[in-house]
Amino acid sequence: MARPKAEDARDSFASVRLTASERKDMEQTASRLGFKSLSEYVRHLHSLIQADESDHEQTREELTKRYPWRDMALYYKTDLGTMLHGNSLNYLFSGIGQKSVDLIMTSPPFGLVRKKTYGNEDAHHYCDWFRPFAEGFRRVLKDSGSLVIDIGGAWKPGTPTRSLYHFELLLMLCEEYGFHLCEEHYWWNPSKLPTPAEWVNVRRVRVKDAVNCVWWLSPTPWPKANNRRVLAPYSDSMRGLLKNGYTAKLRPSGHDISDKFGKDNGGSVPPNLLAVANTESNGRYQDYCRDHGYPIHPARFPEEVPEYFIRFLTDPGDLVVDPFAGSCVTGAVAEALGRRWTCCELEEDYLKGAMARFKPNVRALDRSKAVTYTINPPCSVPVDEEVVPLVEDGGATRPEALLKNKRSNRSEGRSIDKVAAE
Ligand SMILES: C[S@@+](CC[C@H](N)C(=O)[O-])C[C@H]1O[C@@H](n2cnc3c(N)ncnc32)[C@H](O)[C@@H]1O
Repeated sequence: MARPKAEDARDSFASVRLTASERKDMEQTASRLGFKSLSEYVRHLHSLIQADESDHEQTREELTKRYPWRDMALYYKTDLGTMLHGNSLNYLFSGIGQKSVDLIMTSPPFGLVRKKTYGNEDAHHYCDWFRPFAEGFRRVLKDSGSLVIDIGGAWKPGTPTRSLYHFELLLMLCEEYGFHLCEEHYWWNPSKLPTPAEWVNVRRVRVKDAVNCVWWLSPTPWPKANNRRVLAPYSDSMRGLLKNGYTAKLRPSGHDISDKFGKDNGGSVPPNLLAVANTESNGRYQDYCRDHGYPIHPARFPEEVPEYFIRFLTDPGDLVVDPFAGSCVTGAVAEALGRRWTCCELEEDYLKGAMARFKPNVRALDRSKAVTYTINPPCSVPVDEEVVPLVEDGGATRPEALLKNKRSNRSEGRSIDKVAAE
């Protein structure tokens, strides 16, 4: 490999601390790729990173020209926040300074294959569609900030198999835009209907898809956070243990449970599973939309989802942005929690309805009537496997078709039992 010429003499040394095997690995790779020394290899890697950064810089300049601030309209304002009508790219590139946002909390249009009324993008083009937003998110987020994306999965058309679009999005954000995956969360909606009915109810070859992925990412591995802000109530057994004391011992798993385990921290560290039913159909928002003839947003998230991340990842006074605001749940929760906020939404009709959340004032968040859900251990209903055979063709034919075949076989003189055995 030709050695790039340097104007000055290469007489400055940097020592790099490596393990023996790291060094061996690097030297082998460098030599396999034709580099004469580790120095050449490191200089080459550095130039790649620089080229990548300047590509991003150039893209940002182009996007700033393409998305001017004048194309955004102020829709509503409070002391803490602003609702903007228009394409959020105008805000991300021309409406706000670099590194000024503490949390982007959002739920983008999902790449569902069957388009919904709020303008979903085809799963195949999802990543391409998302790229300018990713660039904008990188631009506006503080190093200590977080990007939280609630995103539902999608079925591929015609088969009981799933699209990979939301995983592709995650990979793209990390590999092309340098985001770090802090921790994936899952929002379980216990009231989710079993869809698609064809695979779940008719052919019985898939189960209910009741969780959304919630990707928590950040521009650095060190976003500010504190799980003490989002504790879960202790279980009855843990409460008993706190009351009656705990004897430090080695668990069968090998974990050494120290006596610190018996300390009351006010609640337990929650899992990365948020259990929230999305059932509200007669709340203040819906009534307001119905009374005024505004469309009720079809893909709202419940306020508990943004509440959890806003409490977990921001302080009062911090700036929370939702670039795909819909009915402005994020804005209303941020307002109730004393955070500054900006919400952007393309469809003015959704903003008209969103006003329900702010008029006459924002409702305080109330968790006093908290609901708990039960998750049964797998296979808790006993089943006789003789009576319940597997669907041998994986659901490729509808059960009626199967029955029809069986009937015609019977009329041909073959017993139904024999056909079933086949
Ligand atoms: C999944 S919904 C968000 C729902 C919201 N979380 C709620 O609870 O009401 C996504 C929204 O993004 C909006 N949207 C899509 N592209 C946009 C863009 N470029 N700028 C602003 N909003 C956009 C859609 O109109 C849609 O209302």
